[in-house]
Amino acid sequence: MSENIENSKKMVERELQFYSKSSRVSYYDIVLDRGEGALLYDVDGNEYIDLLASASATNTGHCHPKVVKAIQEQADMLVHYTPAYIWHTPEVELAEKLAKLAPGDSPKKVAFGNSGSDANDAVIKFARAYTGRPYIISFIGSYHGSTYGSMSLSAISLGMRRKMGPLLPGIYHVPYPNIYQEGIYEMSEEEQVEHFFKPIEEMFKYYVPVKETAAFVLEPIAGDLGIVPAPKLFWKKLHEFCQEHGILFAIDEVNQGLGRTGKMWSIDHYDIEPDIMVVGKSIASGMPLSAIIAKAEIMDSLSAPAHLFTTAGNPICCAASLATLEVIEEEHLAERSEKLGKNARERFEAMKEKYNFIGFIHGAGLNMGVTIIDPETKQKDQMSALKIVTRAFQKGVCVITIAESVIRFQPPLVITEEQLDKALNVLDECMQELLDGKLSDDLISGERGW
Ligand SMILES: Cc1ncc(COP(=O)(O)O)c(C=O)c1O
Repeated sequence: MSENIENSKKMVERELQFYSKSSRVSYYDIVLDRGEGALLYDVDGNEYIDLLASASATNTGHCHPKVVKAIQEQADMLVHYTPAYIWHTPEVELAEKLAKLAPGDSPKKVAFGNSGSDANDAVIKFARAYTGRPYIISFIGSYHGSTYGSMSLSAISLGMRRKMGPLLPGIYHVPYPNIYQEGIYEMSEEEQVEHFFKPIEEMFKYYVPVKETAAFVLEPIAGDLGIVPAPKLFWKKLHEFCQEHGILFAIDEVNQGLGRTGKMWSIDHYDIEPDIMVVGKSIASGMPLSAIIAKAEIMDSLSAPAHLFTTAGNPICCAASLATLEVIEEEHLAERSEKLGKNARERFEAMKEKYNFIGFIHGAGLNMGVTIIDPETKQKDQMSALKIVTRAFQKGVCVITIAESVIRFQPPLVITEEQLDKALNVLDECMQELLDGKLSDDLISGERGW
């Protein structure tokens, strides 16, 4: 239980005077002190089981000894030199490793960045350069980052649009094939695909010339939409359409990559070789590193200084990334995600039997979304979802909501079975408290959540 958070409170109050409100979605007013595996500790000594993994950025867990050792050793050798001018060993090794690790057999090349956002900017640059076409299509409900380019690809919140426009021109959005909606879920897969392909056909018929379209940018499994896997047939059809029309198929693995979904890459669930992919977050266990990895001929379409950053490909970040990739492989974290995810799914399904406010449960592996609804209207119920996660937090489980009322379940992949069980018991208890009318509106103070 996190009843005493006095030290945190003081520090939060101090920081709020100096920190921009643009840069934090408020959930819980605690200050972290340290982390270990799937456990977090705040400055008052409270312990939390982490079901958020720093927004899927610490798949290897907090302070994995191997990653920490790599960081320490590299810090002793060379803290920084920019690959924009001169090579260094970890960058050379990592570029090769990522190029070989990307899905498909075509030769790939890599460029480093500092964040998932700038990697998505790179997609726009390379797709336009390679195809000589201006238009990019992405999906409603997607989050691709917070730079102007990646924000223009995103379409998830007016908070990312208001007062900042105009955004990058030439980017259009179509509905994400989110089958987890009443009336659509019940359709056959073919009908679902037809349903979601219609707006695309209309777009190309009425307002976007297909021959001037450079790329589709997509998450195979949409993270911020609520961890929503798209139907297999849909990506297959879209990929075929792209190939037929010379449009690049570009995927964002920033949130869903690196073993999160039960496979190394989320696109591995779809047997498609993307033309371009971007990685970030867990690629270096949360150290600031991202990469665009694309077919060599696409990456050869631009020359310096089209896409370079002084601190991109920093030696310590690259060393952390090499160690991270080894941990994912050696500890079979993708397989672990799949296995533990099956147990978690059973637990959520059992909760759904008990609680009529649980709607769809989506995703697989240690990567799921549990939608909380109003049982009568069947509409999303943000307040109830916030109450459940806030109460869970009070009981020592760090979990948040996304997509209005979806409980975001993305623990570090190293979480122990015991920790997982304990965290799921807490969620179950909190849902029971909600059902019993024990969670009042006062639980949620001020502006909270997405
Ligand atoms: C799918 C996806 N792409 C890109 C980003 C942006 O990454 P970053 O915050 O590192 O810029 C995020 C971050 O949440 C993401 O979830």
